[in-house]
Parts: sequence; structure tokens; C-alpha cells
Amino acid sequence: MAILQSRQLTKRFGGLVAVNRVSLAVEEGSIFGLVGPNGAGKSVFLNCVAGAQRPDDGRVIFRDQDTTGSPAERLCHLGLSRTFQIPQPFPRMTAIDTVLVAAHFGSPTDGVPPLEQARRSLRFVDFPHPEGTPVSGLNTVELKRLDLARALASRPKLLLLDELAAGLMTGQLGALEDILRKIRDSGVTIIMVEHVIRTILGLCDRLAVLRQGEKIADGPTREVAGDPAVIEAYLGQRR
Ligand SMILES: Nc1ncnc2c1ncn2[C@@H]1O[C@H](COP(=O)(O)OP(=O)(O)OP(=O)(O)O)[C@@H](O)[C@H]1O
Ligand SMILES: [Mg+2]
Repeated sequence: MAILQSRQLTKRFGGLVAVNRVSLAVEEGSIFGLVGPNGAGKSVFLNCVAGAQRPDDGRVIFRDQDTTGSPAERLCHLGLSRTFQIPQPFPRMTAIDTVLVAAHFGSPTDGVPPLEQARRSLRFVDFPHPEGTPVSGLNTVELKRLDLARALASRPKLLLLDELAAGLMTGQLGALEDILRKIRDSGVTIIMVEHVIRTILGLCDRLAVLRQGEKIADGPTREVAGDPAVIEAYLGQRR
């Protein structure tokens, strides 16, 4: 069953069609990869699904409800959470407070108090510092971890990840991949935008490829990764 569908989703900025009639379906319990060259429309697509930007055309169906243009708060209550390509935390807050806000705010709780939920989320992502650490002292990689903990604390059914692996050293990728598998195995569906090919091939059940706003391929990961049109979109015309 699809937990999320986009139908002909379109977002324009003046004359630029950033997302052009993109339709896709994401199966519940899967990891779905959204890839494509810089400027392909991946982040704008996520923004439109997550309520950060309003699509100009097309529909978004999340958990059998038409959520097109719904604000992020409502989507969060329905079980949709996301991380940002560039995390923008409140620098004056501590790690635990950052996550606690989301724990208070998320989808209906199953009886776990927010503080416990927040602590669990920090543990789940192996946050490497004490919970009272100020956010201002964290590096980019740690901020991304914290952003993931924040997204998890709202108890999502669907998690949208925008370039979580960017900036990681090769040696750090395995740990992140393990965390994402653990999230998937806990019943959370993941849509991930990623440039790190190894991570995409290792994790994603299916891939959709965007180029200049249009979907140019969609299918099982191995098939899509071998598609000549996809290879060309990444590497340019072969000489
Ligand atoms: N707020 C905006 N106003 C105008 N144009 C925008 C806006 N946001 C994105 N764009 C444009 O829309 C297109 C798609 O951008 P998007 O950020 O979705 O690309 P992307 O696939 O996420 O790329 P990257 O891999 O570099 O993150 C780009 O041409 C970008 O310049
Ligand atoms: Mg992007």
C-alpha cells in the first residue's frame, strides 16, 4: 500500500518549473530514494510534500488523505516529519530542548512522556554528546544527527530526509546507514534525497530520478541505476 502519492505535482518560480508534473507512489515500510543532479527539483519536491512550499498544481495524498497545500504543523500531526538540507536549529538551545520541542509537538503520543521520547530519539541516533550540550557548539555532521533525532521525536510514519549523508566521511556512512535501516525496521517509511551513490544503492528499495523538474526514471534501485538515461543525466553526454 502506498503511504504517499504525488500526482502531477508542479511548482513554478516565475518562468522556472522547478517540479514539473511529478507523479510517484511510495510503498509503506520502504526506503525510497529521490535522486538527480543539482537543481533537479528534489528539495522543492520535498518542500511541497512537507508543507513548506505550496504546489501550484497536482495533488499530494498522504495516508489516504488529500494533504495538498496542508501546512507543516498539520502534516506533522498526521505523521510526516522531515530533515533539512541545511539544518537551522536555534543556536541558544541545548540538544535535548531542540528534540523536546518536536516530542511535544508531534503525532499523538502512545503514552511515552515527551522528555523520555526526546531522550530515546537522541539515543536512537547515537548522539555523541551529553543531552545538555548547546547546539551552538555542534559541527555540521552533529547538527544533522540532531536534526534526525528531532524529526524522529515527533513519531513520524513517513520521514523525508534531504541529503543527510552530505559532508560525512566515507567511514561515517556505515553508521548512518545502520540508523536508517533501524528506523525503517521500526515501521517508519523513508524518502531520502541523496547524492552519495553507495548509500543510495545500499539502502533504497526504489528510486525516482528527477532532472530539470521532470521525473525521468522510477523503479527498483538496480534497474534505475543501470538506466542509460539516468547515467547520462548524471554524467552528461558521453563523448
Ligand atoms: N525559493 C525559490 N525561488 C526561486 N527558485 C527556486 C527556489 N527554490 C528553488 N529554486 C530553484 O528551483 C530549482 C530546483 O531547486 P531544488 O533546490 O529543488 O534542487 P535540488 O534538486 O534539491 O538540488 P541540490 O541537489 O543542489 O540540492 C533550482 O533551479 C532552484 O534554483
Ligand atoms: Mg536540494
